[in-house]
Amino acid sequence: MAEPAPSSNPNLRVLISSDAIGRRITELGARIAADYGDGPIHMISILKGSFMFLADLARAIPCRMQIDFMGISSYGKGKASSGEVKLTKDLDVSIEGAHVLIVEDIVDSGITLTYLMHVLEQRHPKSIRIATLLDKPERRQRPVHVSYVGFQIPDEFVVGYGLDYLEEYRNLKDVCVLDEPCG
Ligand code: IMP
Ligand code: MG
Repeated sequence: MAEPAPSSNPNLRVLISSDAIGRRITELGARIAADYGDGPIHMISILKGSFMFLADLARAIPCRMQIDFMGISSYGKGKASSGEVKLTKDLDVSIEGAHVLIVEDIVDSGITLTYLMHVLEQRHPKSIRIATLLDKPERRQRPVHVSYVGFQIPDEFVVGYGLDYLEEYRNLKDVCVLDEPCG
């Protein structure tokens, strides 16, 4: 079977190639490793969009680490945030006293991360920082301090490399703009 090719879908346009993503993750990994020394880092991947970024970023950071997942839903079904954030899966272990690194796919309005920081800070980690593959600064409604940003992108809806539209396109290797009627 042929691999998913964005070119076969006229609504998809490559914004960031898988090669560029790989190179940037190597850089981010080196920076994070330099900042955290030997760790341990408690990596928290926000499901589902960040699973691919987490997998590559974790392998680019040669520190002791633990990996956990948290499920947050804020989007409902379309392309715009519902503004309501819901915890759908909690962490498996305590983060008290841990150096937490939240791994996100994209920071858009900032509503999800504002909520998440509030929830996690109450659990008394030693430190807490955010790494995101993508940042859409033009869309921000809540200020969020992001320590590690892969790419700043314009205000366009993107899919691929973990990001979805209606649960599709997560398996694309590149980050692509999806030009389609809004959902
Ligand atoms: P925020 O709360 O508006 O910052 O939204 C963050 C979440 O919305 C991300 O973790 C994504 O899951 C989703 N999201 C925001 N923009 C996009 C996009 O362009 N494509 C796919 N998902 C997006
Ligand atoms: Mg997400």
